[in-house]
Amino acid sequence: MDHKAAEDATDAALARAAELARGWAAGVNRRRVAPAAVAADLRARLGGPLPDRGEDPVATLDALAAGAEDGLVAAPGPRYFGFVTGGGVPAAVGADWLASVWDQNAAMYVMGPAASVAEEVAGAWAAELLGLPAGVSVGFTTGATMASFAALAAGRHSLLERAGWDAERDGLFGAPEVPVVVGEEAHVTIHAALGMLGMGRDRVTRVATDGQGRMRADALAAVLAGLDRPALVCAQAGNVNTGAFDPLPEIADLVRANGGWLHADGAFGLWAAADPARRHLVAGADRADSWTTDAHKWLNVPYDSGLVFTAHPAAHHAAMTLGAAYYVETGGGERDPYNWVAESSRRARGFAVWAAIRSLGRDGVAEMVGRTCDLARRFAAGLHGAPGIGIRVLNDVVLNQVLVRFDDPTGDAAAGDARTAAVIEAVQAEGTLWLGGSVWHGRRVMRISVSGWRTTADDVDRSVAAVLRIAGGIVSVPPRG
Ligand SMILES: Cc1ncc(COP(=O)(O)O)c(C=O)c1O
Repeated sequence: MDHKAAEDATDAALARAAELARGWAAGVNRRRVAPAAVAADLRARLGGPLPDRGEDPVATLDALAAGAEDGLVAAPGPRYFGFVTGGGVPAAVGADWLASVWDQNAAMYVMGPAASVAEEVAGAWAAELLGLPAGVSVGFTTGATMASFAALAAGRHSLLERAGWDAERDGLFGAPEVPVVVGEEAHVTIHAALGMLGMGRDRVTRVATDGQGRMRADALAAVLAGLDRPALVCAQAGNVNTGAFDPLPEIADLVRANGGWLHADGAFGLWAAADPARRHLVAGADRADSWTTDAHKWLNVPYDSGLVFTAHPAAHHAAMTLGAAYYVETGGGERDPYNWVAESSRRARGFAVWAAIRSLGRDGVAEMVGRTCDLARRFAAGLHGAPGIGIRVLNDVVLNQVLVRFDDPTGDAAAGDARTAAVIEAVQAEGTLWLGGSVWHGRRVMRISVSGWRTTADDVDRSVAAVLRIAGGIVSVPPRG
């Protein structure tokens, strides 16, 4: 293929992709939220033998869109309340396209100077929005899991270095022990990161939590009092079920007294700092040593976009750097992104984060966070105590998370679990909205997360009406007496 043919083929493919993407984006408000297709349908449409011959790129894109179409979840739409996902604000989606077309390798400054500087700037903007101390180091990861991996690697490095051990060079066999302390309701990805770091998913001391899932400071104090060395302590800013925050000021005092490393997992919750009306929830988070958050959740940047920050750039760098001889260090103070995450070649993730923050501005991020929290309260108020279906909201709705349960009139917990599961399944199948299930303190619950930039009060009202109508059809509780 000569240059002209390559140019034409690229142009045609981009034009078709834009057309298909615009069609999807324009309809995402109205789509049925759950996909219509199941895996077998999708395998039939997208599967088949390995093609012997190639085809026109536009035909390939058409085949992809036709094959994928009804297997797509309207997660960027306004009535997707599953997990804590968020959609993609327009500038971030556009910047993400550009990142693909520009195809910069964000491993090193020399491979993509603009990608490196976009990370530098977007990282500093994000740190400011999140209320983190000046001078924090930042890495752009696939998501919160790998952000926690990098943060905890930095903590491991720091604690072992102080004990006279080089973890990166010598590994962990024979190393001094590092006590690891986590809240009883730490996110599963904290355990996964600890496992990948050789510190053990379960070789942890779990600290009791309160009724909202917050780590109990008195219980942490008792755990730390029993230790003879500094610990790696993992706290949470935003419980994945309730949205509650660990008591970070007290935790920071305790970890400081212990001489340990405090990590704050704020995959979504840390963004509360951007909203003046909710900033108090995050008080004390600025005293942590490292932080995890996601841009692909509440900042509404497309996947994959996580952020790790640390207050100890040297430890962060030491834990992540590769330093191969042929890697070009510019020496001029430029940022080589591979020094801050567990990846070398990778996508230039900074562009989309830069675009999201620039297009929203400080006010726009605050508005989005504040509005979604207000909508979560509206959701809860619409559902709680609605007559005849045994429905109640279980958590204090302090953030964007709502936990709902459908009790059985007999009070039987297992029957309540079954009713709750049945309503979740029926709501998902009906398609007006999508929400997920979870297990909270041993019982089945419906979990609602309001994280998408498109969601309006009308979407919440329609969703509340749909949940009540569907629940009424299957779990109607006879009036007492
Ligand atoms: C508190 C917390 N930590 C970590 C994660 C994992 O995030 P990711 O899927 O981006 O790795 C989540 C996801 O919901 C979360 O809520």
